[in-house]
Amino acid sequence: MQIRPYQDSDERAVIALWNEVLPDSAPHNDPATAIRKKLAVERDLFFVADDDGVVGTVMGGYDGHRGWVYAVAVTPLPRRHGVGSALVRRLEAALAERGCLKINLQVRAWNAEVIPFYEKLGYSVEKIVSMGKRLY
Ligand SMILES: CC(C)(COP(=O)(O)OP(=O)(O)OC[C@H]1O[C@@H](n2cnc3c(N)ncnc32)[C@H](O)[C@@H]1OP(=O)(O)O)[C@@H](O)C(=O)NCCC(=O)NCCS
Repeated sequence: MQIRPYQDSDERAVIALWNEVLPDSAPHNDPATAIRKKLAVERDLFFVADDDGVVGTVMGGYDGHRGWVYAVAVTPLPRRHGVGSALVRRLEAALAERGCLKINLQVRAWNAEVIPFYEKLGYSVEKIVSMGKRLY
C-alpha cells in the first residue's frame, strides 16, 4: 500500500469509493464535481491510498490561514490497518510544508463514531459551531 498523489486515471475508483462510504446527496458534494473543482485548485493536496487499486482518499486545502481536511475515506475491507491514518498524516506533511500552523476538519453529527479516529491522530473536539452557506 502506498499513499500517492491523485491521478486522473483514479477518477472512476474514487467516485465509486465516495459513493460507497461518503454518501451525500447534496449537489455541491457530487463526487465528479468535487474532483473536478479540486483538480483546479491545489490538486497536489489530493492523495489516494493505492493497494493494487484505490482503497482510500484524503483531500486537503490551505487558504494561507488554516489547513482543512476533507474526504477521508477508506474502503471497508482494509479498515483498522492504518490506511486512514497514513492518508491524514501524508496530508498533514504536505500542509506543514506550506507553513500551515493549524488544521481544521468537520465531522457530521450523525458520524460521531469516527471522532476517536481523529483523536488518535491528535485532533480534539473544539467548542466551535460550524456554519455554512451555499453560494449557488
Ligand atoms: C474513518 C476511517 C477513514 C478510518 O480509516 P481506517 O483505515 O480504518 O483507520 P486506521 O486504521 O488508520 O485507524 C487508526 C485508529 O483510529 C481509531 N479508529 C478508526 N476507526 C475507528 C472507529 N470506527 N471507531 C473507533 N475508533 C476508530 C482506532 O484507534 C484505530 O486504531 P486501532 O485499529 O489500532 O484501534 C474509515 O473508517 C472510513 O472511511 N469511514 C467512512 C468514511 C468516514 O466516515 N470518513 C470520515 C469523514 S469525517
